[in-house]
Amino acid sequence: MIKKIGFIGVGHIAHYMLTGFARTENNFEFILADPDQDNLSRVSKQFTPQFKCAVTLDNQRAVDKSELIILAVRPDHMEAALAGLTFRPDQLVASVVAGASLNLLDRFVSPAKPIRVLPISCVAINKSPILIFPENQPVQTLFSLLGQVHVLPDETTFTPGTALVGAFYAWIFALMDETAGWTADQGIDPTVARQLVIQTIEGACAMASHQKEKSLIQIWDTLATPGGISEYGAKILKERGCLKAWPDALEAVTRKMES
Ligand SMILES: NC(=O)c1ccc[n+]([C@@H]2O[C@H](COP(=O)([O-])OP(=O)(O)OC[C@H]3O[C@@H](n4cnc5c(N)ncnc54)[C@H](OP(=O)(O)O)[C@@H]3O)[C@@H](O)[C@H]2O)c1
Repeated sequence: MIKKIGFIGVGHIAHYMLTGFARTENNFEFILADPDQDNLSRVSKQFTPQFKCAVTLDNQRAVDKSELIILAVRPDHMEAALAGLTFRPDQLVASVVAGASLNLLDRFVSPAKPIRVLPISCVAINKSPILIFPENQPVQTLFSLLGQVHVLPDETTFTPGTALVGAFYAWIFALMDETAGWTADQGIDPTVARQLVIQTIEGACAMASHQKEKSLIQIWDTLATPGGISEYGAKILKERGCLKAWPDALEAVTRKMES
């Protein structure tokens, strides 16, 4: 298992990953690089009881001390973060930067090996689907501590995969808010409304996982009694284009990332 891990960029997603790693029993040694000393001090103080956590304003120092470097800066900061750094051939660079291709990464991190990884915020509770390309056993082993790893078959699928895992995940919160708001407006206590929405989605997810032998549309068919409320409401959703709007939005996000 990789033990010495550098982070370049210690923002939201880095914090979620550190939180997830802290929930596992591993003696990691992190070195965190970021331009903001106050941020570094805060984060290192938070995680120091769980692991060795050094900090630096110098990205090269984080590279030099790590077996694996996790690149977690915003896309428009990536080139500045990597420019002029020197990597070793035995090092791995796991980039979570949305849209950064292996070709582009390779230009900056060669002779180290770049790997694209897409985790989402639920890595903080070790429940994230995590996309990886290309296959790399040490990286897969490490990230499997944070959720369920999926190695994609080729790099072109990484973009639609990112649309689904990254954007669709976020939209679910907007959908939950909309439906919890409506439920509360009907006179149900807002806390209960929130729980009902969460538990209903959890129940649907659990049944979908449990009934592996059935396709999702077969499960839908078992629920949509002719003339019943599920069928009635779904007709309205379809008439208003609500169901088709989801794949349309995924397609639009994919095109945006490819442009
Ligand atoms: N947030 C998510 O849930 C999520 C999920 C999957 C993938 N991602 C990807 O992860 C990346 C980071 O996203 P984020 O939401 O964590 O952004 P963020 O909160 O803004 O974190 C990025 C961090 O990088 C720092 N940084 C900027 N320039 C740097 C440099 N030259 N060297 C080292 N560090 C530098 C930033 O410092 P300053 O704030 O001082 O500029 C900030 O602390 C993005 O590329 C995004 O596509 C994010």
